[in-house]
Amino acid sequence: MKNILVTGGAGFIGSNFVIYMLEKYDSYRIINLDKLTYAGNLENLKAVENHKNYSFIEGDIADHQLVEEIFKNHDIDYVINFAAESHVDRSILEPEIFIKTNILGTTNLLNAAKKHWQEGDSFKSGKKFIQVSTDEVYGSLGETGYFMETTPLDPHSPYSASKAGADLVVKSYFDTYKMPVNITRCSNNYGPYQFPEKLIPLMIHNALNKKPLPVYGDGMNIRDWLYVEDHCSAIDMVMHNGRLGEVYNVGGHNERPNITIVKTIIGYLNKNVDSSITEDLIKYVEDRKGHDRRYGIDPQKIKDELGWYPKTNFETGIVKTIQWYLQNAEWMKNVTSGEYQNYYKKMYDHK
Ligand code: NAD
Ligand code: DAU
Repeated sequence: MKNILVTGGAGFIGSNFVIYMLEKYDSYRIINLDKLTYAGNLENLKAVENHKNYSFIEGDIADHQLVEEIFKNHDIDYVINFAAESHVDRSILEPEIFIKTNILGTTNLLNAAKKHWQEGDSFKSGKKFIQVSTDEVYGSLGETGYFMETTPLDPHSPYSASKAGADLVVKSYFDTYKMPVNITRCSNNYGPYQFPEKLIPLMIHNALNKKPLPVYGDGMNIRDWLYVEDHCSAIDMVMHNGRLGEVYNVGGHNERPNITIVKTIIGYLNKNVDSSITEDLIKYVEDRKGHDRRYGIDPQKIKDELGWYPKTNFETGIVKTIQWYLQNAEWMKNVTSGEYQNYYKKMYDHK
């Protein structure tokens, strides 16, 4: 048995990853360390909460003593660091926590792993630290071209700056200590368990409740969408076969302008749920500050080196996703009660 410390495993991608790994492998024990912020939800992990190879620890990746104890008590083989403050709009309002969790928290994890994995000048074999990063560290593209692993970092939001900062610290541990690390940089994920502050689940939630659908700016900003399960399989492959010290971009050439996504969701709900859900709900609002215009990943490296490719195309993935939210109305109700209402008011009521 090998032990994987998954951080942020109660969030959107982390919970999908925990479920994916426990379903696929019998040979890994997963320890999920999560602070359970507004974005972390143990309901996401109902399917595996009693699994013999799964355990949960509530806590902060920036907590030195706690992380040290975890490494002392478990022979950790892999760290998969999903834990982060992940929402750009929140980072514009309150940058500090992004720096604390995303940079200092990551550094704390690196230090504990280094301490327990290092043997003299080298590291025990079979250990690896994977930093789950984002294409946002590359900044914004014009109408042509793609982000490659060699594209210079040029983050624009406090969120992406904090992720870029963390990436550089991870890289420095490879460059300085030869610590076994990989960094993955993925494009926009969608699928089950995504918190309804992000574009797709927010639009589904609002449309079902006949609330306005806030589209930033002209709606023509482009994101490159990847079904979350395909991201999980990419991390699985990088974890097992990624060359040490390398960065891997993850994306599937699924670029869409935001307004197309919004209209696709409306179209599906109008046809299948309620014909009064129409494009009249769209409300163009003030643009996001520093809004990146276009993201587009070049995934050639991970395809060539690891044989990864996405299995779910956008047309199939978006229908699966909308259907998941329809079938999990209770989940949506739970995560949008309480504090969410205050956030929503702060974000959108003035726009
Ligand atoms: P999320 O916001 O849904 O989940 C983040 C999780 O981290 C939550 O469970 C939260 O409780 C936990 N967390 C936050 N601060 C913590 C701390 N200090 N200590 C321990 N746990 C903490 O995020 P997500 O969308 O699942 O993203 C996961 C990771 O993937 C992030 O690192 C993000 O930067 C990266 N990423 C996300 C996307 C995307 O489209 N969602 C794309 C590329 C990369
Ligand atoms: O590219 C990867 C990144 O994707 C991840 O690193 C981030 O963690 C994740 O949040 C996501 O960032 P984005 O800012 O691209 O995602 P978001 O869903 O917030 O917004 C997607 C696009 O939709 C963006 O151009 C802003 C726009 N938007 C968003 C919201 C929430 C709207 O027009 N209206 C909205 O209400």
